[in-house]
Amino acid sequence: MAHVSRKSLTDVSALAARYRAVREDSRALGAPLSDADATVQSMPDASPAKWHLAHTTWFFETMVLKPNLAGYEVFDDSYNYLFNSYYETIGERQPRPRRGMITRPALDEIFAYRAHVDAAIETLMERGPAPDVAELIELGCHHEQQHQELLLTDILHLFDQSPLKPAYRDPQPLGVAADPGEVRFIGFDGGIVEIGHEGDGFAFDCEGPRHRALLEPYRLADRLVTNGEYLAFVEDGGYRDPLLWLSAGWGTILGEGWTRPFYWHERDGEMWTMTLRGAQPLDLNAPVTHLSYFEADAFATWAGKRLPTEFEWENAAASLPVEGNFAGSGRLRPKPAAPGEGLRQMYGDVWEWTRSPFSPYPRFKPVEGAVGEYNGKFMCGQFVLRGGSCATPENHIRTTYRNFFPPDARWQFSGLRLAEDA
Ligand SMILES: [Fe+2]
Repeated sequence: MAHVSRKSLTDVSALAARYRAVREDSRALGAPLSDADATVQSMPDASPAKWHLAHTTWFFETMVLKPNLAGYEVFDDSYNYLFNSYYETIGERQPRPRRGMITRPALDEIFAYRAHVDAAIETLMERGPAPDVAELIELGCHHEQQHQELLLTDILHLFDQSPLKPAYRDPQPLGVAADPGEVRFIGFDGGIVEIGHEGDGFAFDCEGPRHRALLEPYRLADRLVTNGEYLAFVEDGGYRDPLLWLSAGWGTILGEGWTRPFYWHERDGEMWTMTLRGAQPLDLNAPVTHLSYFEADAFATWAGKRLPTEFEWENAAASLPVEGNFAGSGRLRPKPAAPGEGLRQMYGDVWEWTRSPFSPYPRFKPVEGAVGEYNGKFMCGQFVLRGGSCATPENHIRTTYRNFFPPDARWQFSGLRLAEDA
């Protein structure tokens, strides 16, 4: 459950403005898509864009409006089955791998659904939502922003399947290639540190409670691993040496036939990659992305380093401003590190795999009710990623933010930063 300060709850107009801005961002993300683009499901892990646009609306309708707005009329009774994601307490649902079968309602009907729910939320705001209802609206906004990023990564996967490799946004030249320079390692003392969310701002339940963790002295790379560095690993036979891989990772790359990062492909002897701006030559100075945990871990082993823990990452990031290449830049691809001293690219560009399992912090308890299903029940078999990506909305990310995916997931903007023991 969300934590929202009492102070921010009194500011209903700020919450209303945030709601409108988030909803408009989703509309804008859907605007370049045809009904077919928004309906096809390219793999079981990905959802159609239309489903994302509807499901985020269903969340507001189900969690906020039905229980809290007297006289609210449900837009369409069948949508509860179509657009429930994984809430067992709410009922049966369309199986996730078959979301692409929802050819009807069409995209324009989903936009009408969004408008219906938006109008009802405005009514609720005018009546002055109780603090717990305002918390749910804020949770719904952050939930929708998570789906905005998924909409982009799912569209990228879909467009990569097309023989035309279409661009979601107009192709853009790579710009002047900036050399990020040799990687440097920055030392941290370790000791007992405070980890997790505390205070007034919003956070998901899994980011707390704030608690102590013990860190041994460690060192973190000052920037992300680049495509050029990862290409050296590929060309060195990294995908053919079982000694570099976790057993589960080796089984996965053999079973799936992986020999390089997702979306890399050769054209006339040159390495290209699929992006949201269409297929483009690989930028060797940009951060490598679309890696599974297994690949990130194998690269680190090959480099004689390791992945950081999420606590090492958070301790290092805590003093830095939350700035970086986020979705709002419109670039929609990671970009090379700018020259500079100290830690670079901690936020934005690519999510950074950590070696930490997605587990509950000490004294963690999910809240009661349906929203208690949001994070806690996924705390098994997944790893934490930190820092946000070029597809993450800037006002969605925090130092304490814990993203999580299974170790074989590679369709997100996921890369790595190296660490070592000091
Ligand atoms: Fe969701």
